[in-house]
Amino acid sequence: MQDLPSDRDAIQALLDFHVEAGVDLALDETPHNRFAEPKAEPAKPQGPKAPPAQPAPSPRALPKAAASAPEEVAGMAREQARHAQSLEELEAILAGFDGCALKFSAKNLAFADGNPEGRVMLVGEAPGADEDRIGKPFMGRSGQLLDRMLATIGLDRTQVYVANIVPWRPPGNRTPTPQEIAICKPFIARQIELASPEFLLCLGGPAAQNLLGTKEGILRTRGRWFTYKAEDGREIKALPTLHPAYLLRQPLQKRLGWRDFQALRRALDGRE
Ligand code: URA
Repeated sequence: MQDLPSDRDAIQALLDFHVEAGVDLALDETPHNRFAEPKAEPAKPQGPKAPPAQPAPSPRALPKAAASAPEEVAGMAREQARHAQSLEELEAILAGFDGCALKFSAKNLAFADGNPEGRVMLVGEAPGADEDRIGKPFMGRSGQLLDRMLATIGLDRTQVYVANIVPWRPPGNRTPTPQEIAICKPFIARQIELASPEFLLCLGGPAAQNLLGTKEGILRTRGRWFTYKAEDGREIKALPTLHPAYLLRQPLQKRLGWRDFQALRRALDGRE
């Protein structure tokens, strides 16, 4: 690139501009000017000896699975997740699963944190930058708030198990697409089944809607007990609550979050 500024401040300003615009990830070593690339010629009739036209190789071709139809990939995910007989096996299968394109922009798989033997499992949406770097869910500011909320009801990560409906970071922290969620869902479903918690806390709307099948927004469903039906027929008491990232943006809503955590405490004590 010839137009790059040479002095440090200008480069810093350019980087800041990109970060503010939501660009926090390089997909390739070198930039590509797609506008300068020649347009594909319309196919010409070819003589009998002409070699078949080959598509131009993409700089970062995705494995075939990630480029297949989402329903087909979700079927593959279900098939693979079903085979896991332990959480360790499930993590290994997920690490080798190429069906979700997010895997190829993420740094790490953020499978789980905490104690899978705990009575409570918490499920969020998707890893952010800190989780992606460390390879575990809820490691950043949301995770710190989550830990403080857990502490108010006498819990910490040695007593709860934490995961996300999507285990790879979406680029720039965007919301995972419905297709990405559908592809990853069999894995989180199997993870819940294998961990087999007594209580499931769904953190935020996407976790609540995708795990509990609720259609209403989280502000309507939070604080109400639902039943999560595992594929093996087990029923788990599930409570949707506000996502800690939302509470960081809307601190006045924390009182609703505290209320939900108190409800969980009462349920753990057999008082609900
Ligand atoms: N938000 C989530 O939903 N999950 C994480 O792991 C971190 C932030």
